[in-house]
Amino acid sequence: MSESYVFYDGKIVDESEVTISIRSKAFNYGLGCFEGIRAYWDEDEKQLYGFRLKDHYVRLLQSAKSFNLNIPYSVDELCKFTVELLKKNQFKQTVYIRPVVFDGGTNLNPTLSDAEPKFLIYCQPLGKFAGKEELSVCISSWRRLEDNMLPPRTKPTAAYLNSALASLEANQSGYDEALFLTGSGHVCEGPGENVFIVKKGQLITPPPSDNILEGITRDLVIRLGREELGIDVVERSIARTELYASDEIFFSGTAMEVTPIVKVDNRIVGTGKQGEVYKKIKELFFGLTTGKNPKYVKYCTPVY
Ligand SMILES: Cc1ncc(COP(=O)(O)O)c(C=O)c1O
Repeated sequence: MSESYVFYDGKIVDESEVTISIRSKAFNYGLGCFEGIRAYWDEDEKQLYGFRLKDHYVRLLQSAKSFNLNIPYSVDELCKFTVELLKKNQFKQTVYIRPVVFDGGTNLNPTLSDAEPKFLIYCQPLGKFAGKEELSVCISSWRRLEDNMLPPRTKPTAAYLNSALASLEANQSGYDEALFLTGSGHVCEGPGENVFIVKKGQLITPPPSDNILEGITRDLVIRLGREELGIDVVERSIARTELYASDEIFFSGTAMEVTPIVKVDNRIVGTGKQGEVYKKIKELFFGLTTGKNPKYVKYCTPVY
């Protein structure tokens, strides 16, 4: 008996019961796509809240469709399975949830035309992901994949080799994380995060046409900036040197949450400390993940 229950082939089973062939096309060619979701634990209420479950599963179904992988469940069913799985695992801390759809076929062809979709969900406790309060990043020499190569908007399993190469290079050069440029040289995103800059009071982030994943946290940050802080939020291409001249830079993402970048390519960003806009966004963000802000309570699904 393992310590974790997972959802596989339509039911909740002990993780040790799941085996995947070494011939699987998912393993050999990365033929699959996935999601990353958090569920936030509220110690006062002893309650766990799935965060924006619906939005993540809408994105997963759209991604899977691009790859001819049919997930035989609706968004509502996927949300229900996730809540059941969290409950079955009896989690009493903040958790990361990983739904994966992949081609379970085992023939030699790296094709999706005869895809045999398999779907699973596993979960694990996850506190702070970055391991640091403030990050230093470098521009990667690896460029981001493009929509007509391996569409970053679909969270394809294989695309995370592109992410891993960038992170490896950054870490080996002494930085905490990498930042991609697009093929045409615009600032794109991190290996698993969207990026925001603050300049002259504006909050600026690259548009979807710059080959980013349309992040669910990004969407929330944009909304918080506009509706709660009343600041001008602009989606436009960002030049590399704009990073050096920014007052603030921060990442957004499900795993990374909101995390400030205080150094880029060895240049200090702004004051070299967490910026004022970032601090306000951070407070708003962590104030709403456990259903405590009535305006955003619909994002939080109670498990118990
Ligand atoms: C490449 C990439 N960009 C951005 C994000 C942030 O997206 P989200 O906020 O939906 O987690 C992620 C994480 O899923 C990612 O993998």
